[in-house]
This record gives sequence, structure tokens and C-alpha cells, in this order.
Amino acid sequence: MNKLATLHGKRWISRCYSSLSSQSLRVCVVGSGPAGFYTAEKMLKAHQGAEVDIIDRLPTPFGLVRSGVAPDHPETKIVVNQFSRVPLNERCSFFGNVSLGSSVSLSELREMYHVVVLAYGAESDRVLGVPGEDLEGIYSAREFVWWYNGHPDCSDLDPDLKSTDTAVILGQGNVALDVARILLRPTTELAKTDIAEHALASLQESSIRKVYLVGRRGPVQAACTAKELREVLGIKDLYINILESDLSKSAADEEEMKNSRIQRRVYEILSKAARSQPSHPISGQRELHFVFFRRPEKFLHSDDSSGRVTGVRLEKTVLKENSGSGRQSAVGTGQYEDLGCGLVLKSIGYKSVPVDGLPFDHHKGVVPNIRGRVLSNTHTEPLIFENGLYVVGWLKRGPTGIVATNLYCAEETVASISEDLDQGVLTPTLPRPGREGLQQLLDSKGVRFVPFNGWEQIDLKEKSLGSLKNKPREKITRWGELLKAANRESVTEQ
Ligand SMILES: Cc1cc2nc3c(=O)[nH]c(=O)nc-3n(C[C@H](O)[C@H](O)[C@H](O)COP(=O)(O)OP(=O)(O)OC[C@H]3O[C@@H](n4cnc5c(N)ncnc54)[C@H](O)[C@@H]3O)c2cc1C
Ligand SMILES: NC(=O)c1ccc[n+]([C@@H]2O[C@H](COP(=O)([O-])OP(=O)(O)OC[C@H]3O[C@@H](n4cnc5c(N)ncnc54)[C@H](OP(=O)(O)O)[C@@H]3O)[C@@H](O)[C@H]2O)c1
Repeated sequence: MNKLATLHGKRWISRCYSSLSSQSLRVCVVGSGPAGFYTAEKMLKAHQGAEVDIIDRLPTPFGLVRSGVAPDHPETKIVVNQFSRVPLNERCSFFGNVSLGSSVSLSELREMYHVVVLAYGAESDRVLGVPGEDLEGIYSAREFVWWYNGHPDCSDLDPDLKSTDTAVILGQGNVALDVARILLRPTTELAKTDIAEHALASLQESSIRKVYLVGRRGPVQAACTAKELREVLGIKDLYINILESDLSKSAADEEEMKNSRIQRRVYEILSKAARSQPSHPISGQRELHFVFFRRPEKFLHSDDSSGRVTGVRLEKTVLKENSGSGRQSAVGTGQYEDLGCGLVLKSIGYKSVPVDGLPFDHHKGVVPNIRGRVLSNTHTEPLIFENGLYVVGWLKRGPTGIVATNLYCAEETVASISEDLDQGVLTPTLPRPGREGLQQLLDSKGVRFVPFNGWEQIDLKEKSLGSLKNKPREKITRWGELLKAANRESVTEQ
């Protein structure tokens, strides 16, 4: 193409785009967690003509800020004030109770919107793949966290905390620490938080006294961060057990610590805790045991027909350097020991799930992408992108990172969208039905969505229920009641 034609082409695209800007670039963001809200906020700011609709399968917004962040971390939840300002923009709408997959398909969304940004997180679990993983009394941390945070999908989980005094948590990341803290913290302290009523009642009657936090690697590799570790170690009247012998470091450990301030701090805190621990717990005291260099080999159960877990067989491990990666892996030694328990929480990481028509990397558990642009598949050269389809948050990067990480992640995805519009890769010349189209489609399928003011009704109700008990809110934990509080009684859950 000659220079003039290129210039004409660019002018034409930019004319189309600017006329479209005044009409509306139709954008749909799927998922209203941090990644979804940051993306919507950035899109509205960067594209003054854009209309942005956010859909979520729940009647409530905010993703893991509501259903993941621990109830005793209210300061982390303040970010919802910022998110709540986004749908106040007249160019933005929230559609709760609308599930990608069952209420609306990906291809329907892509037909109705110029741009679809997937931000639906990671709502499944990594599996260990060891025998007995499905025994009664074994839960993923995700389910347990959803239960104590009042997610409507887990309000009936009802884990038995009364028939055992010992819980084993597999994994040593921040989620594992959250779960340990909730099990061990005095319930008088939890009672002032927004913990779900059913979970508080169950914890008040809990017999769990000992919690084992089991890591397949050593204290240098514990995946938690310093603030969260200090917090669990600081629980009132808690006996901490860390074996001094686990704290010896290899040259490879020293090298890892040299390169990571977080690992250094975590190791120092663990060492200090090990040095200052009394030799025995006082009678009746709750206990937290850090177990390093052990990986689960199988789950044990009693001979009766209850199918309940009675323990975990652990294999001792040693660390082996992966050449060039700077990472050491756990390798089994063939030596085993059994740890008795009546409750197991697997906290080994979350996992995203694909929907129909979406390219998905099953190995990594993410949507293949480059800077948020969805790749049709990872094996073709040249790379082929899915036009108008983008991804952000845990679905894009995998299940790691704090709330703020999703801000940078959203900036990157929105920058890719803007670049694609500027460069004519994305040419939204034809009008798309967007919001009106979605409403019609949902109507035709009998899906009645919960708008943002429906959520505001839920919010008001929860706060008023909470104020009666000196709690910031009493979460409504059942689908039917949530929809009723949103004035959507006749709505069916999606
Ligand atoms: C237990 C736990 C505790 C955490 N605590 C902290 C903390 O204290 N501080 C901190 O900074 N970070 C914390 N994090 C990390 C933080 O929560 C995540 O980084 C962040 O929530 C990821 O954002 P996201 O938007 O990608 O996913 P999510 O927050 O999971 O949001 C995904 C949204 O998509 C919706 N959705 C799912 N499937 C569909 C579908 N099919 N159709 C429509 N909608 C769908 C979900 O309902 C949800 O609202 C925690 C994480 C966990 C797991
Ligand atoms: N307060 C907060 O800021 C907060 C709170 C909660 C969560 N978060 C964030 O949310 C993200 C997710 O947290 P997470 O704890 O779910 O994940 P994570 O940090 O990735 O930790 C996962 C843990 O599981 C272990 N693990 C993984 N596969 C295993 C296997 N097959 N067998 C045994 N152990 C295995 C890991 O050990 P290896 O290291 O050996 O792989 C690690 O200890 C993190 O980024 C976290 O920081 C933040």
C-alpha cells in the first residue's frame, strides 16, 4: 500500500472510530472482581464514547474482595468504595445474576459487543492427585473460604469442626494462613467482623485445637508474605511449633534469599518464632505447627463405612535445584509418616475454568494471551488473536497476586485494547446492540438480572442486619434471599 493510501486508511479508521466514539464503543466485562472493576474504570476513562457493561454470575459484585478476603481484614475491603463509584457513571451498567455459559454464551456476547473482556477469575481448585482426595472431611480452601465468607454456593458446606481436635492445612501460601487464622483466632474477635453467621456459630462450637500447616518445601520457600505470617503468629494465646532442624539453610537457599526480600523476611520471622517458642503448650492452649519438607502421599480413613478422613500420609522431601531456574523443587525420599486429623483443607492454589468457545491452556489453567489479547491458540506461527476478545486478572495471569496487582493487569489489557483501536486491528465500524441487546436476550431467556441498585438494596439490608449485632454487615448467604433482598424475588438463580 502506498503512503497516501495508508494515510487515507488511517484517517478513515480514525473517522469511523471517532464517530463511533460519539455513538458508543460497546464493551462487556465478564466478572466484577478487582480485575473487572479496574478494567471498567480504565475503559470508561480512556474512551469517552465507550459504554461498559459488567456482568457477574452472582447477584453481588466485587468477586474475592467479598468472598475471598478474610473477614478480619476490613481494611482490604475499603477498595469496594472505589469500585462502587464505577457503575454510577451513566455509561456503565452492572448485570448481576448473569452467568457466562448458562445465561449467555461467549459467542452471543461477542456478537453483541465490539469488545469482550473476560475477568471471571479462578473458581475451581488445583488437585493433588493422591489417593483418598475425595474422602469426607477434606475440602479445598476455596470452598472453606467461600463458606466462612457467605458465598451462596457454599452456605451448606457445613464442615464438621466438632468431631476432631486436629486440622491439617496443605500449602503454606497466604490463603493457607487465612484459613489457619480463622480456625485458631478467638471467636470473640471474629464476632465483630462480617464473617457469615453460620460459620461463626460453627467456629464457636469448634473442637479444633491443633492446626498443622504443611509445606512440601522449606521455610525459605514458604509462599506466604511477612505481614500475614506475623498476624497468624500474633494470635492471642497460641502455642507455635517450628522445628529448629527445619531452619538449616543450604547454599541454594542462601542464593534464593539473596534474590528475594520477601523470602528473607519470612525466613527471619519463622526463625525468630522458633527461637522464642516455649518447649510445650500450656494445657488447653491452641497450637499451630509448621511442618516443612513433607508432601501428601495419600489420605487415610477409618475401617468403618463412614468414609471420613482420619489422617494424611506424608512423604519426607529434600530440595533439588532445577538447573537455571533459580527454583528448588521438592523430591520425595521414600520415607513416610502419618499425621492424624479429622479435617483437611487443601490450600494448594485456585484454578480457572474454560467456557465454550474460549481458547484455554489447560496445563497453565489460563486463557492464552499476550498482554491481555486472547490468542486463538499457542501453537500457530504467526500468532493469531481472537478479534475483540481480551482477558484480565486471575484468568489472564493465573491465581496469584493481591488486589492491587489487578490494577496493573487491567492497565495492560486496556492499553492493548486502545492500541488495537488506534492501529485499526479492532475496527468497530458497525454498531452493535450492546446493553439493549443483552437486555433483550436475557428477557427472551427469562433471566432477570440484578442491576447495581439491586445490589445496593442487598448492601443496605446486610448493613442493617449487621448493626443489630455490632458487625459491619450480616451477609445474606442464600441465593433466594439475595434475590429477594435485591427485589428480584421472582428471579431464578443462574
Ligand atoms: C482467599 C483469598 C484471600 C485473599 N485475600 C487478599 C487480601 O487480603 N488482600 C489482597 O490484596 N488480595 C487478597 N487476595 C487476592 C485477590 O482477591 C485477587 O488478586 C483478586 O480478587 C483477583 O481478581 P479477579 O477479578 O481476577 O478475580 P475474582 O475476584 O475472583 O473475580 C471474578 C468474578 O467473576 C465472577 N464470575 C465467575 N464466573 C463467572 C461466569 N461464568 N459468569 C459471570 N461471572 C463470573 C465471580 O462471581 C467474581 O465476581 C485473596 C485471594 C483469595 C483467594
Ligand atoms: N493477605 C493477602 O494479601 C492475601 C491473602 C490471601 C491470598 N493472597 C494472594 O492470593 C494468591 C493465591 O494464594 P494461595 O495461597 O492460594 O496460592 P500460593 O501463594 O500460590 O500458595 C500455594 C501453596 O500451595 C503449595 N502447593 C502447590 N501445589 C502443591 C502440591 N501439588 N502439593 C503440595 N503443595 C502444593 C505451594 O507450594 P510450592 O511453593 O512448593 O509450590 C504453596 O505453598 C497469592 O498471590 C496470595 O498472596 C493474598
